[in-house]
Amino acid sequence: MNLKIVAFTTIAVIIINLGIGIWYGFYKQSNNSIEIRSINAKVNYYNVLSINWPFTVCVNATKSCIRPLPNRWTIHGLWPNGLDNSMIFDCTSEKYDSNQIRMLKTRMDEQWLSVKKSGNDAFWKHEWQKHGTCATGYSQYDYFNKTLSLFERYDVNRMLKNNGINYGSLINVADIRRALEASGLRSDMFVIQCKNSYKQPYLFEIRMCFTADLKPMTCAIKSNCKKPQVFYVMK
Ligand SMILES: *[C@@H]1O[C@H](CO)[C@@H](O)[C@H](O)[C@H]1NC(C)=O
Ligand SMILES: *[C@@H]1O[C@H](CO)[C@@H](O)[C@H](O)[C@H]1NC(C)=O
Repeated sequence: MNLKIVAFTTIAVIIINLGIGIWYGFYKQSNNSIEIRSINAKVNYYNVLSINWPFTVCVNATKSCIRPLPNRWTIHGLWPNGLDNSMIFDCTSEKYDSNQIRMLKTRMDEQWLSVKKSGNDAFWKHEWQKHGTCATGYSQYDYFNKTLSLFERYDVNRMLKNNGINYGSLINVADIRRALEASGLRSDMFVIQCKNSYKQPYLFEIRMCFTADLKPMTCAIKSNCKKPQVFYVMK
């Protein structure tokens, strides 16, 4: 190969990268003052509380997941969603600040832990910046505290256990629905989600729908479970 061409290309690449770096620096700086990202900030939204079964999150993902996994349902997040069902996210530039939720840490570590090795703080930061900033009027403390309180009030772990739904086998989706209904949730206020990429679906997530001021409401979303039976396993 011609050495001159190699040298020239290398220098050109370095100059282009420097240029992009400097441009990005200016770009970021000039955007620091922006508070509301109005494209996504909607006033009319409802909330989806997403609750995960850790063993399904981590099925065939042993490398990226913590061990041992908690053998209980845990919070994924509280997600504002446009009333017209549009996705809304990254609504303001307010940065995540772990100091503001210090007082909640014990509950968060127990109920809202990251099953991924990337850790709790990175998980909470992501949930706040993507979703929490769209929960209009909530401070970071409120966002996390209210989500924890909803999860504790509509306690999926207790509802399933009290109604004889135990992990360890193939179970009927209809039985899960009945267990949640027996605990006082109206059948249209929650949605059961599956991981469908395997021969038999795995029970993955329970979503509950709430108004902007956190009263239970009808979910517009539909379940994606394609078979009447799902794996609810602990491995
Ligand atoms: C996980 O991976 C193995 C090997 O690739 C595969 O046989 C299995 O069906 C996968 N799915 C589950 C749910 O274990
Ligand atoms: C946390 O949330 C609950 C439920 O909404 C509320 O009763 C409680 O006052 C909140 N705690 C604080 C310190 O705001």
